[in-house]
Formats: sequence, C-alpha cells, structure tokens
Amino acid sequence: MEMHELSMENRSVRRFMQEISIPDGDLLHFIDSARLAPCGANLQLLRFTPFTDRKHCSRIFPALKWAGYLEDWNGPDEGERPAAYIIIHAPHSERRHIPVDAGIAAAYIVLTARESGYGSCMIMSFDAEMIKEAAGTPGGYYPFLIIALGVPGEEIVLEETDGNIRYYRDTEDRHHVPKLALESLIVPATE
Ligand SMILES: Cc1cc2nc3c(=O)[nH]c(=O)nc-3n(C[C@H](O)[C@H](O)[C@H](O)COP(=O)(O)O)c2cc1C
Repeated sequence: MEMHELSMENRSVRRFMQEISIPDGDLLHFIDSARLAPCGANLQLLRFTPFTDRKHCSRIFPALKWAGYLEDWNGPDEGERPAAYIIIHAPHSERRHIPVDAGIAAAYIVLTARESGYGSCMIMSFDAEMIKEAAGTPGGYYPFLIIALGVPGEEIVLEETDGNIRYYRDTEDRHHVPKLALESLIVPATE
C-alpha cells in the first residue's frame, strides 16, 4: 500500500475481533520494523514486550484507559478486546530524544501492522505498576507506551474539521475522527 493511503487507512482501532489471534511471528515482524527505525545517536535504547497469549492479554487489559472523549463508554467489551499487545519500555534517562524515539518506533509498528491487515491503538494512559508487573519491565526502564492490536471490529470514518477535534460515535455506532485541514497546519516562513 502506498504510504499516504496507509496513513489514511491507519486509524486508532478500539474494538477488535478478539477471537482472531495474531501469530507471534507477526508481532516480531512489527517490532523488527521498530528495530530498523531511526533513533537519537543510534543508541537503540528501547525494549519491547509482545503479548499474544490470551491469559497474558487479560492481565494487560484492566490497566488500560480507553477513549477519553467517549465519556459514556468504558472500553471494549469481552469479545471485542485486543488480541495482542506490544509494550514499549523506555530507560529512565535525561536524554531528550527518548520520547521521540518511542513515538517513531510506535509509528513503525502500527503502520507495519496496518499493512499486514491489523488495526491498533497506541495507549499512554495506563496503570504503570500493573503493566510493569505483567510485562516484566527491565531494571532502569519503565513502560512508556502500549500498542493494542487485533483485527478491526469497528467502522471508522476519517473527516475534516475546521475546529472541533473531539472524536465521537454516530447513531450507527461508527467512530468518527476529525482532522484539521492541511492549510490550517501550515505556518508560512517569514520573508
Ligand atoms: C501518544 C498517544 C497516546 C494515546 N493514548 C491513548 C490512550 O491512552 N487511550 C486511547 O484510547 N487512545 C489513545 N491514543 C489514540 C488517540 O486518541 C488517537 O490517535 C486520536 O484520537 C486520533 O485518532 P486516529 O489515531 O485514528 O487518527 C493515543 C495516541 C497517541 C499518539
């Protein structure tokens, strides 16, 4: 798939077909993309924990906070939960590039997953202690970002907005994602 098309296709998915699992090899393939991604000083400080096993996934799920704008929705029900997760661990460090490295790694993972036919959602709101325990975060590291993955089980509509950026669900239960127009993001350089 061409990159711009992939960017349009790759929405954050929060309802999945939970019974369809993702092979371990696929998850390693997504992490391999992150391994090859650019990172500050090529230090390669991030570490990754893949979860595909149902029992392990059920230890991750309760730590996650879903879709802050959907106030009446408490997250995916049993049957529509993620089939896999990747935890990105970052080192405790003053280095300013580490959150950037993690964002790039996450982007490579979700785009590779999307290209392989899966959906995903990056999650930064979670109970870090629960995740540390479930993921065995290495000493000197903390869980920075979680990527939930699975076969998409919801319809998502990408739309343009001139101001209101809150995502919402319509009466047909479709998830809408408003994006600002390209022109509104461009800051002209000074003459
Ligand atoms: C750094 C980051 C953190 C996020 N954290 C959460 C989260 O904790 N819970 C959640 O449901 N979605 C989370 N998201 C998903 C965003 O809400 C989503 O990207 C945004 O609504 C735009 O939708 P889109 O990804 O389909 O373009 C996060 C996304 C990013 C990039």
